[in-house]
Amino acid sequence: MAKEGAHMTEETEFMIDKNVGKERDKVESSSDAKEMRAIILTGFGGLNKLRITKKAMPELQEGEVKIRVKACGLNFLDLMVRQGNIDNPPKPPLVPGFEVSGIVESVAENIAEFEVRDRVMALVNYNAWAEVVCAPVDFVYKMPDDMTFSEAAAFSLNFVAAYMMLFEVANLQEGMSVLVHSAGGAVGQAVAQLCSTVPNVTVFGVASSSKHAAIRDSVTHLFDRNADIVQEIKKISPEGVDIVLDSLCGENTGKGLSLLRPLGTYILYGASNMVTGETKSFFSFAKSWWQVEKVNPIKLYEENKVMAGFSLLNLLFKHGKCSHVKSVMDKLLRLYDQKKIRPVVDSLWALEEVKEAMQRIHDRVNIGKLILDVEKSPTPLMANDSTETSEAGEEEEEPEGDNDSKERMPFIH
Ligand SMILES: NC(=O)c1ccc[n+]([C@@H]2O[C@H](COP(=O)([O-])OP(=O)(O)OC[C@H]3O[C@@H](n4cnc5c(N)ncnc54)[C@H](OP(=O)(O)O)[C@@H]3O)[C@@H](O)[C@H]2O)c1
Repeated sequence: MAKEGAHMTEETEFMIDKNVGKERDKVESSSDAKEMRAIILTGFGGLNKLRITKKAMPELQEGEVKIRVKACGLNFLDLMVRQGNIDNPPKPPLVPGFEVSGIVESVAENIAEFEVRDRVMALVNYNAWAEVVCAPVDFVYKMPDDMTFSEAAAFSLNFVAAYMMLFEVANLQEGMSVLVHSAGGAVGQAVAQLCSTVPNVTVFGVASSSKHAAIRDSVTHLFDRNADIVQEIKKISPEGVDIVLDSLCGENTGKGLSLLRPLGTYILYGASNMVTGETKSFFSFAKSWWQVEKVNPIKLYEENKVMAGFSLLNLLFKHGKCSHVKSVMDKLLRLYDQKKIRPVVDSLWALEEVKEAMQRIHDRVNIGKLILDVEKSPTPLMANDSTETSEAGEEEEEPEGDNDSKERMPFIH
């Protein structure tokens, strides 16, 4: 996909960008359409690197399932990709996104698991934010009948990651305690729900205070992200906790390890602290890296502590563990059927609203997952507002006449 985009000049992309709203209705849902709408990242950086454009329809390859996309998941990781804040990022232009839900449009030969019109969700290695996605069959999962497309796009990445960290890496058992950062976020809420499936698990959640009223019932103890977590937790549990789930990295690594009980497990699974503004900060990157480098393995051995790392996307797309992940998905779908878990959807956004949606994450206000709803029309622009906000730093200059510099009203689910 990146290759196709590479042939476009910036000017051509912008022209398509301007016409895409008008042309939207012409892009039929029929399988014989030659083009589709997609979001592309034209280069690493701020929100203005995102464009909605038209691209050639992907062609079904051997071993793939072609999906007419209904909803795409927008993850914190997508912000990091946009900034170029990840290891070995692919070269832009690229279509971002790692998860979709939708309806099977066609299936490659010799694939028996799926049929045309099946409702499915899929994890993909980029290219998710488009009207049509071709995914290798190993990364496609059937949706339960009563699951909505937005729920499905909010399900795979967060719940599989949360499940594997809690039950496979850290071996969560009855009576244990878990510390989770960004507890109001998509993974945070999945962790809280999965912990509630085990008796007597104490969850220490950390989140911005503005979210506390909404998420208080999902965890046992809730702290503001600016509080001294080590002190606060030790007041309640002097011995510390059994499991620390750290998606922040940097100085949190040392703090998390200091809170671990003997035989406790610390898992690093994200580096949200590296995002300090709209564009990548080399200072934050270096600071986080330096602070983590200081962890001493000999101390781990002396203190009987386990330190682990977890990356679901690497597990799937680098380490080839797709059948293992499928078995985890089966367990999660059983929990969903038993109504023990249900993805929390924060808000739905049209593809055209991707910048505002990302801004919502930068602003730390989401509770649960943001969804790009492919069939949603953009909400009206508010003429006098701008997308500038406090924590995401300065907006870069937009091309003249670009409506995207005005704010849209989000549709809150
Ligand atoms: N390793 C894996 O397999 C895997 C899979 C999925 C996600 N992840 C990681 O898990 C973390 C959570 O992911 P998610 O998709 O569920 O996102 P999310 O938690 O919904 O992300 C938004 C929230 O993150 C918190 N946050 C922390 N640092 C921030 C920053 N610098 N800028 C803005 N918000 C910040 C904010 O909540 P508060 O202000 O309340 O803290 C914000 O509302 C991310 O680090 C992500 O990369 C890892």
